[in-house]
Amino acid sequence: MKPTQRPQNPCFSSGPTAKRPGWTPAALETALVGRSHRSKTGKARIQDVIDRSRALLGVPDDYHLGIVPASDTGAMEMALWSLLGARGVDMLSWESFGQGWVTDVTKQLKLADVRVLEAGYGQLSDLNAVDWQRDVVFTWNGTTSGVRVPNGDWIPDDRGGLAICDATSAVFAMDVPIAKLDVVTYSWQKVLGGEAQHGVLILSPRAVERLESYKPAWPLPKIFRMTKGGKFSAAIFQADTINTPSMLVVEDAVDGLRWAESLGGLPGLIKRSEANLAAVAAWVQRTPWVEFLPEDPATRSCTSICIKIVDPWFLALGPDERTAAAKKIASLLEAEGAGYDIGMYREAPPGIRLWGGATVETSDLELLFPWLDWAWAQVRG
Ligand SMILES: Cc1ncc(COP(=O)(O)O)c(C=O)c1O
Repeated sequence: MKPTQRPQNPCFSSGPTAKRPGWTPAALETALVGRSHRSKTGKARIQDVIDRSRALLGVPDDYHLGIVPASDTGAMEMALWSLLGARGVDMLSWESFGQGWVTDVTKQLKLADVRVLEAGYGQLSDLNAVDWQRDVVFTWNGTTSGVRVPNGDWIPDDRGGLAICDATSAVFAMDVPIAKLDVVTYSWQKVLGGEAQHGVLILSPRAVERLESYKPAWPLPKIFRMTKGGKFSAAIFQADTINTPSMLVVEDAVDGLRWAESLGGLPGLIKRSEANLAAVAAWVQRTPWVEFLPEDPATRSCTSICIKIVDPWFLALGPDERTAAAKKIASLLEAEGAGYDIGMYREAPPGIRLWGGATVETSDLELLFPWLDWAWAQVRG
């Protein structure tokens, strides 16, 4: 039976994600448009984002948090290009974004001493195999497979190398222990439902020490440079951004952070996201045609929730037909206005991916499930 009720907000994309409940463009009315980001008021606005982010995420006082160009990719590449090469590197990769960082390090930076600890879609790299005398690069939550690291217990405090973490689909939804990491990056269009093109880069004192003691052999473009005359450019992390940010996007970030505070901060955000995962888990449990893509329940993401189709009819199809069948589910839901962007990432196995970050209401997921069952019935015929 075709459902009659649609989710109030049909946005389930894994980035840009749903805006916070109740968001309208009126949230941007106070944006400092037409003014310089280097004016006193402009800098205060940027500093407001920095201060609220630090407080919400529990960033240690001796860490730096700054806004950098080019979204999460910009923040990560700034870190990789500036810090790597001083030691051997262990690269952890279990889906396409982790794989992207491997490509950067092996094919672009062409580092000589790289170990790649790889796992397939649905699995996690062997965390016990990591050598912490080396630098370690990993993604906290693999957005395209829905596999996350379960905790930070595997990261020793007395490590010799740097722990460099792409946490873009994890921060504000998971307990990411910043104090155990040396580099943390994210962008705003994920868990807080912000806008794209600005990255956030968090650096530990050890990362700063590396910046001041090691000079990469390759040239660094201006937007990657974090030192001047061998000294750390701390001002970048105090609202003196490298280049011009959008004050409209900054205003939207303030709005998202204020909303997060109103929920009780990080615990409130995590609770909402975990409730979304629990709702999906209950649907998966009662639905014979689906299973979670992540095999180990401890690694199942509460943000990018990835579902595979396990129906025998589907599994008997060829690869292209499977992709087409999964795409059909997504396009039926889109045409009905019941759920947008629920397809898996283009490089991942075909299936369903539902964003479960805090901006998504559990009640909207509950209203989506009957639509998924209906779309499956149409496709299955
Ligand atoms: C884990 C991960 N890393 C990197 C990116 C790229 O982020 P951005 O588009 O903000 O550069 C994404 C985007 O989905 C992601 O999920």
